[in-house]
Amino acid sequence: MDLDAALGLLTEVPDFPVPGVLFRDLAPLFAHAEGFRVVTDALAATVDPEVDLLAAVEARGFLLAAAVAHARGLGVVLVRKPGKLPSVAGRVEYALEYGTATLELPVNVVPPHARVAVVDDVLATGGTVGAACRLLEQAGAVVSGVSVVLELAALGGRDALDGRRVQSLRTA
Ligand code: PRP
Ligand code: HPA
Repeated sequence: MDLDAALGLLTEVPDFPVPGVLFRDLAPLFAHAEGFRVVTDALAATVDPEVDLLAAVEARGFLLAAAVAHARGLGVVLVRKPGKLPSVAGRVEYALEYGTATLELPVNVVPPHARVAVVDDVLATGGTVGAACRLLEQAGAVVSGVSVVLELAALGGRDALDGRRVQSLRTA
């Protein structure tokens, strides 16, 4: 299976989570053995060879980052939604379309000056990945780039990432 066919496993769900939104569902891709391997290998190839560590945001980012970490022989920093971590090294609040959300970084996992690549499934407004980048940078890390499966270009996520290097396997 080639990358195009693997990315063809994504489905489009109209009016989710709210009317008017076309939701790209990665669940069929995650469930497909060959498609998942092809996509995670392609994502692994986008990660800068000089990185020390990967970072991913709960929940779908964890799945992709774990496969990329295995392929590249790297570890993963788990950036978590609030209330999950016993000890919090840093916290950022970021804007959603309606309201705000918070992400937290665990203690003792990001060495100072570590070069970190952020992995996620979808880059939409960039709010989530942007917040993860700020959290890592506040902890003294250097974000070398952001790798995602799908970029929803119309939502401007790339612009929200302030010039950080973004690589997406597919743009829609
Ligand atoms: C989704 C997705 C990205 C984010 C993209 O996460 O996994 O992390 O939204 O949107 P943005 O660029 O506008 O921030 P979500 O928390 O909805 O879902 P998950 O917990 O299922 O991964
Ligand atoms: N699919 C999955 N995650 C998302 C999407 C989407 O279409 N938009 C924002 N996060």
